[in-house]
Parts: sequence; C-alpha cells; structure tokens
Amino acid sequence: MTSTIFKKHIVCIGAGYVGGPTMAMIAARCPEYAVTVVDINPERIAAWQTDSLPIYEPGLLVLVRESLGRNLFFSTDISGAIHKADIIFVSVNTPTKTYGEGAGKAADLQYWEKTARTILQVSGSNKIIIEKSTLPVRTALAMERILNANDKGLHFEVLSNPEFLAEGSAVADLENPDRVLIGSRETESGLKARAEIVDIYAHWVAPERIITSNLWSAELSKLVANAFLAQRISSINSISALCEKTEASVGEVALAIGTDSRIGPKFLNASVGFGGSCFKKDILNLVYICEHYGLHEVARYWESVVMMNEYQQQRFVTNMIKVMFNTVAGKRIVLLGFAFKANTSDTRESPSIAVARKLLNEHALVVITDPKALDNARIDLHDCAGRIEFCDDPYEASRNAHAIAVMTEWDHYCELDYARIFKHMEKPAFIFDGRNILDHKKLFTIGFNVFSIGKSPLKHF
Ligand SMILES: NC(=O)c1ccc[n+]([C@@H]2O[C@H](COP(=O)([O-])OP(=O)(O)OC[C@H]3O[C@@H](n4cnc5c(N)ncnc54)[C@H](O)[C@@H]3O)[C@@H](O)[C@H]2O)c1
Repeated sequence: MTSTIFKKHIVCIGAGYVGGPTMAMIAARCPEYAVTVVDINPERIAAWQTDSLPIYEPGLLVLVRESLGRNLFFSTDISGAIHKADIIFVSVNTPTKTYGEGAGKAADLQYWEKTARTILQVSGSNKIIIEKSTLPVRTALAMERILNANDKGLHFEVLSNPEFLAEGSAVADLENPDRVLIGSRETESGLKARAEIVDIYAHWVAPERIITSNLWSAELSKLVANAFLAQRISSINSISALCEKTEASVGEVALAIGTDSRIGPKFLNASVGFGGSCFKKDILNLVYICEHYGLHEVARYWESVVMMNEYQQQRFVTNMIKVMFNTVAGKRIVLLGFAFKANTSDTRESPSIAVARKLLNEHALVVITDPKALDNARIDLHDCAGRIEFCDDPYEASRNAHAIAVMTEWDHYCELDYARIFKHMEKPAFIFDGRNILDHKKLFTIGFNVFSIGKSPLKHF
C-alpha cells in the first residue's frame, strides 16, 4: 500500500534509543519514503515532537527536525500505521527474562511476540518485517511461523537488520556506520526483500559497507559483536586488578599492547566497568543459547565476562571503603556522573547504580551529579529517596564531601576547578577516578589522595 506522495511507507515499532534515531536518519536521507515511528508510550511519542526529545544524543534534535512533519512522523496509532506500512522495523525492547524458565539469562520475548500478533491482526497486505531489536539467534523462525500462519493469504518476509549504533555517538554512527548488516532467507522473496532494504541504506552508506548474510548469521553477529566488545573491557579490567598489585600501570600496558595492529587500541580503557542496556543482557542471552545447545564450556567462557564486570564494580567500592579508613558511614561521597557513559542520559545498568547502592548500604551520604542523567538517576534510585541527594552543580555537590568518585567520562569533568573543590571538602580529601580521565599528578599536588583504576595510588599518608 503506497500513497501517491511517498514511494513506500516505513513503520518502526518502538520509539526508543534505537527506533527514534535510526528512523530519523532514514527519513532524513530518504525523503521519498514516509517514516512513521509508533510506540505504546504516549509520553515518548509526544516528546519526540518537541524540543525536549525523550533521549539525549548529540546532534539528534537537528536530525529529527530536518524531517519531522515532512516524511518523519511519530504516532500512538500502531494499528493504523501497520496497516499502511510496506516495511516494518521492529525495535521494541528485549530485556532479560525475570521469571520462569531461563530467568536472569534468556531474552524476554513477550513484547516481541505481542508485536508479531498485532502485525498479523491488522495487516491487509504483504509486508517486509525487519528485526531491528537484538534477538536470540533463530528468533526469526518463530516470527515467520506466527506471521505466516494466517488465513488471509498474506506473506510476511522476515529479515534481520541489527543495529550497531553506540549511545552517545548514535547520530555519527548512523551517518557513517562501520557496516550495515542485512540478513534474509536466501529464497527468491527473501533476496528481493533484502534488495529493498539495501536500497534504503544505499542512499547514504557506501556499498562495500552494506553486508548481507543469511538470517541466522545476522541475528547471531549482533550478539557476538556485543560479547566481543564487552570481553575487551573485562579483559583490560582484569589486568587493572593485577596492575594495582604489581605497580604496573594499566594505561601503559594498554598502550603497549594496543599498538600491536592485531590487537588495536580501541576499547582498552580500564574503568569501573561497563554498563548500558545491551552488553550484559546480550551476553547472558548468548550464554543461555549456548546452554540450550549443550555447549556448557562455551557458556561458561562468555559468562565470565559478566562476572568480571561485577567483580570490577565490587572491587571499586571495597577499595573506597578500605582506603577511607574502613568506614564511609556518615561520610558525604559525590558520584561525578550517573550515565553509563558520556554523552547520553541513559543510566540502564550503569555501574553508578551498583556503586551508589553499595555505598548507601555502608550508610554513606551519597550525592549524585550528572549533566544529563539526573532524571533517570532519580527513577533508578526512587526507593532510596531521603537517603540520597541529587545536585546539578558539581561544585555544590562536593561542598563538605569526603570523597569524589568519577563514574562517567564526561569531558567537562576534566576541566573542573579541582583546587576550588578541594578547598571546601573535608580533609583528607579523596578522589576515586573510576574512568581514569583526570590529571592525577595535578590532583595530588592540589592535596587530594588519588585512587584510580590499575595504577598505584597517589596519597599523602
Ligand atoms: N540502546 C542501544 O544502544 C542499542 C543498540 C543496538 C541495539 N539495541 C537493541 O534494540 C532494541 C531496542 O533498544 P532500545 O534501547 O531502543 O530500547 P528502549 O527501551 O529505549 O525502546 C523500546 C521502545 O519500545 C516500546 N515498545 C515495547 N513494546 C511495544 C509494543 N508492543 N508496541 C509498540 N512499542 C513497544 C517501548 O515503549 C519503548 O519506547 C533492544 O533489543 C536492544 O537490545 C539497543
């Protein structure tokens, strides 16, 4: 069903961190397609049409504005949009199951299946359905079976086009992706649908960066990409623990190994650990799938990446308590940053959550500051109301504090006036740099006791 104005109607189900930016980019680069993003959350849909977008990403507001109302639309009329659509991207959340079989590991596919059933119910024409969400390998098979078990004579071609954008650089990643991956059945109708989707991306992505594959390779590649990225972080973090015992410096080790072109320099920053909605969820999903196929050794191997991440977060807090004379009770401790990484407001699985909770358990007075993520922080820690302070201004936050912990690598944290901060802190004053972004020698000269990740501490006692 195409209108006379637009070549095709694209619909995206799920207006989140992936659906919103991805569709804004497609709309901007493909003005002849109508792109409608739908969601069950009316507040989200409303916010996409204002200057206060529901998520923060550098460059996103300008991108959305380019096409909003022209060929980019946001709506809660899911059935109406599906009915008109030729191509449907499904970008709903796929969290880890919290109940029943596979709880804590398997993907919870209830939102996914509901979406498939809605598509089936309201469709009156053939459609291409694209898995944009990250899903267990072979999910497309279930999707195909649900959709094509219809008595309307309709055909639904299911493809996998996983999204590789990183939050914080979503617009740049979409504009200039390392690759776009499109998996389909290798049948006549599968290859035809694949070509249609290639055509969309070819509006702005060079042909050699558009990779095509079979459906299962595309589904699995997304899980594996996240597993490998997280594995690198856990690998360097494991070495950071060893560095702290041996007076080696993890930054120097990372530089030395990263210059080997077989290893490469990226993703070798030791830190308090990875966060975000995807890494842990996708690895646990991989672990579950391996167990399902009886590959227990493979499952244990990948599971250790998550365990190492938890160890690193735990180690960070344990070290804080130990060096602050074995108690933080009643001490004001500032978390500098709450987002799971810089340039995003997203706090899902942020190490700050675990660190804040552990400090609260030790009866510390926790103060949280972040330039973009305070609203989400308030939601994440709603059960701790009254025991925790949220503060926009890092200078105010650190007044009378005993310690500062850098949790997010926001650029401007490097440019704060630490001499001014030191002056109004309790002494001895501590800085725990969970991202290794500050000038540690300078801080030490100011008077701070400085503890970083994978480096010998600089202390005045
Ligand atoms: N966030 C990332 O950086 C990222 C990157 C790549 C891939 N992914 C994957 O993309 C998927 C979406 O992630 P996200 O971060 O955008 O999630 P999100 O939670 O930000 O957005 C998902 C949206 O889907 C909506 N939704 C859920 N069920 C629905 C339904 N039945 N009908 C209509 N809308 C529905 C929710 O209301 C929500 O707004 C996940 O599978 C995730 O693993 C995420």
